[in-house]
Amino acid sequence: AAIHDQKAIRGNGGELHQIAEGETPVLTTAQGGPVADDQNSLRAGERGPTLIEDFHFREKLFHFDHERIPERVVHARGYGAHGFFETYESLAAFTRADVFQRAGERTPAFVRFSTVAGSKGSFDLARDVRGFAVKIYTQEGNWDLVGNNIPVFFIQDAIKFPDVIHSVKPEPDREFPQAQSAHDNFWDFISLTPESMHMVMWVMSDRAIPRSFRFMEGFGVHTFRFVNARDESTFVKFHWKPKLGLQSVAWNEAVKINGADPDFHRRDLWEAIQSGNFPEWELHVQLFDQDFADGFDFDILDPTKIIPEEVLPTKPVGRLVLDRMPDNFFAETEQVAFMTQNVPPGIDFSDDPLLQGRNFSYLDTQLKRLGSPNFTHLPINAPKCPFQHFQQDGHMAMRNPAGRVNYQPNSWGEGPRESPVKGFRHFASQENGPKMRIRAESFADHYSQARLFFISQTPPEQRHIVDALTFELSKVQTPVIRERMVSHLLNIDETLAKQVGHALGLKAMPEPAEAAMPTRQDLDP
Ligand code: HEM
Repeated sequence: AAIHDQKAIRGNGGELHQIAEGETPVLTTAQGGPVADDQNSLRAGERGPTLIEDFHFREKLFHFDHERIPERVVHARGYGAHGFFETYESLAAFTRADVFQRAGERTPAFVRFSTVAGSKGSFDLARDVRGFAVKIYTQEGNWDLVGNNIPVFFIQDAIKFPDVIHSVKPEPDREFPQAQSAHDNFWDFISLTPESMHMVMWVMSDRAIPRSFRFMEGFGVHTFRFVNARDESTFVKFHWKPKLGLQSVAWNEAVKINGADPDFHRRDLWEAIQSGNFPEWELHVQLFDQDFADGFDFDILDPTKIIPEEVLPTKPVGRLVLDRMPDNFFAETEQVAFMTQNVPPGIDFSDDPLLQGRNFSYLDTQLKRLGSPNFTHLPINAPKCPFQHFQQDGHMAMRNPAGRVNYQPNSWGEGPRESPVKGFRHFASQENGPKMRIRAESFADHYSQARLFFISQTPPEQRHIVDALTFELSKVQTPVIRERMVSHLLNIDETLAKQVGHALGLKAMPEPAEAAMPTRQDLDP
């Protein structure tokens, strides 16, 4: 047939086939064998049993039976989009990271927004933290900034992460409530964990019911380091600021939207991008040195604290634009594997004990979820810069070392070599002290910033926090947990505590809570 009589169709492997106009592509098995009948299985006689000889039937059912993979242990419900990050100016004075060297340069990015507690099929407008995970495919490997829409976290030490998540997920005997914080286990844990009070104020505020992903801020939460070519370090906190500004819905709207359209947030992102209305965020940084850290009122390693922008203004350094939806939700959004430990040379960690723990957890969980150490062979997770290493084999290996050599050093002069100049050099911070399980005294103030957040809110926003706490705690059936929470609120703001206590019908106000969690020494006989 002449070229103009042909049309191209794309196979499952993405390859193009020319077929004549009007011709339908032939259905095949996964092995590529053409299928004659996809309506009837092979039987012995018109009404007889199905034959195991029917390889097409068996392959079809086998594959269907294995379609599901484990959902993420947290942040199971998410929605992603492609885009780019654009640097405003060279940050070479602070960081050697290639992505920050040249003004105006664009680097491809993928972002996944999520709720934390709900399962994959839960609804979008739950009162919850939102994940804001960004993968930037830099020329020096993938940089994952795995953040949230709230700048602080519930806990100070990663060893408490399974506890806080167990407490917020459905209770083990009844498997409810789903995707909500309104239950005894969650408030029991929170009321026994004073370090969570700052985060709880944010979660009870309008921040936890965003209007859409496009109206959310994002935060790296932890203190990170920038390291420049002279190996000098500057501490950095990352902030994403939405171009559209911050917007939330009201609680009664959230409840109605959840019923009417559980996909409200994902539909909003899809429709905005498909109509060319590309959402955009500015990346801001707070930069500071050791002297600032030493003089700051709180420990910069404590992930339950912010550095107020009034104390240390943010500086815009680039923008993120989302302009393309994935072609395939499962291949991209579901299989994308974010990991806090993915940092390019020039971006490094601080000793924040939550960040340190996360750096273990994400690699570990990807093996469980994606099932193979070769999850970086999936296109969404593969770097977009040249990469070469000697890792080989394993389930689903798509790329193995080429040629004879799969080790180094070798005598054949083949293969890649490490480079102390170009490679990642861990910042040589001074560490000392005896090994011990302890929480530093500098992590002990759990209420000052909770109060700061509450009093920074407008009167209607404060009212929403009172209403949210009242609603949530009214669902708690164990009176002592309610009282314990009000005793913490007394340390945050007396009016807030009294309003919530009154609305809950407490007969008398409890004493303010003990200021800190018992230390190891207090527990020892
Ligand atoms: C997802 C662990 C704290 C943000 C996850 C996942 C795990 C995990 C296991 C599932 C990943 C997957 O299956 O792909 C932890 C641990 C934490 C912690 C152990 C504390 C010790 C945080 C904090 C933040 C955060 C503080 C925000 C700054 C996220 C986000 C995702 C996620 C955004 C979803 C990533 C995606 O969209 O695929 N976390 N997390 N996590 N975590 Fe954390």
